Amino acid sequence: MSYKSEDLSIPFGSLVVVTGANGFIASHVCDQLLAIGYRVRGTVRNNNRAGWMLPFFEARYGPDKFSLVEVPDMAASGAYDEAVIGASGLCHVATPVMQSYNPHEGIPIVVNGTLNALEAAAKAPSVKRVVLTSSSTAAASPQPNKEFLINSNTWNEMAVEAAWAPPPYEGDQRRLDVYSASKTQGEQAAWKFVKEQKPDFVLNAVLPNANMGTILSIEHQGYPSTAGWIKALWNEFEGQEDLKFNPPQYYVNVQDNARVHVAALIFEDVQGERLFSFAHPYSWNDILAIFRKLYPQRKFLEDIPGLGEDKSVVANERAEELLKRLGRPGWTSLEESVKDITETLI
Ligand SMILES: *[C@@H]1O[C@H](CO)[C@@H](O)[C@H](O)[C@H]1NC(C)=O
Repeated sequence: MSYKSEDLSIPFGSLVVVTGANGFIASHVCDQLLAIGYRVRGTVRNNNRAGWMLPFFEARYGPDKFSLVEVPDMAASGAYDEAVIGASGLCHVATPVMQSYNPHEGIPIVVNGTLNALEAAAKAPSVKRVVLTSSSTAAASPQPNKEFLINSNTWNEMAVEAAWAPPPYEGDQRRLDVYSASKTQGEQAAWKFVKEQKPDFVLNAVLPNANMGTILSIEHQGYPSTAGWIKALWNEFEGQEDLKFNPPQYYVNVQDNARVHVAALIFEDVQGERLFSFAHPYSWNDILAIFRKLYPQRKFLEDIPGLGEDKSVVANERAEELLKRLGRPGWTSLEESVKDITETLI
């Protein structure tokens, strides 16, 4: 690798806190941090449910590298104060699964959780770096066939307006808008906090689109979040018909996304940036073509008509440059990212 420990914002061996550690993205952030020589303390809502992570990471990286602390409610005042003590870095990845279509319920949990993470970091003198996992939806929702630019000045004001519109609070689109607004307003609250409070740490945000790729423990994590989308398509959307109309958007390999988080945490020159973990656009039909190529004997759905394509142009060069600095050739292909999941389905 082309960098030395003494040139990094936090040296190898330092302790990094990762919130929501057992989630799809966060578990890979833990894995990548451990792989390059950091110690990790994961926060989880329930120690018992996430207990599998302790032997899992001990088997990979040896004893005393990974630990867990319980934070049952990220929105509770002071939620992360104890968890960050002694840490050099914090990756705030945790975000609740949206149960509610009501913006008054869903959005404040995300905003409060984000502010709690930043306040805890600001109070802990050891914390030099904070990375916030935002979302592609904090910049823009997918808009098939429309040409537009996404860069560090792009915010999903459309979703915020739609999410806070008067009731009724129902329907898949409303739930998606509430989720997107929670990520938009959560990230905006983070930048505002840093601007106003001027804490001693550096903040960076990572905005990933649909994560695909290997799952660390199917036994314990199932097919979490967007990894479940591939499984749904494989199963011809049985019981998940709503996913059929998922618009085309960008994918990112989940391990690449985790590496972008690591880069945002450790590289001295990455300061106050919004990093776009967007590899390339895809649609369901691109994934069906990969299924047919990889498994010619099997039968899959016919192409879905009228999906359109994602024509947005995203400022993702910086994130890819950071991946290369971490020794990768660039974004991992869609085929490889899909195959990591389908190989577990056959
Ligand atoms: C978020 O924080 C505010 C201010 O501290 C508090 O009034 C509110 O109850 C919190 N909301 C949630 C969902 O915890």
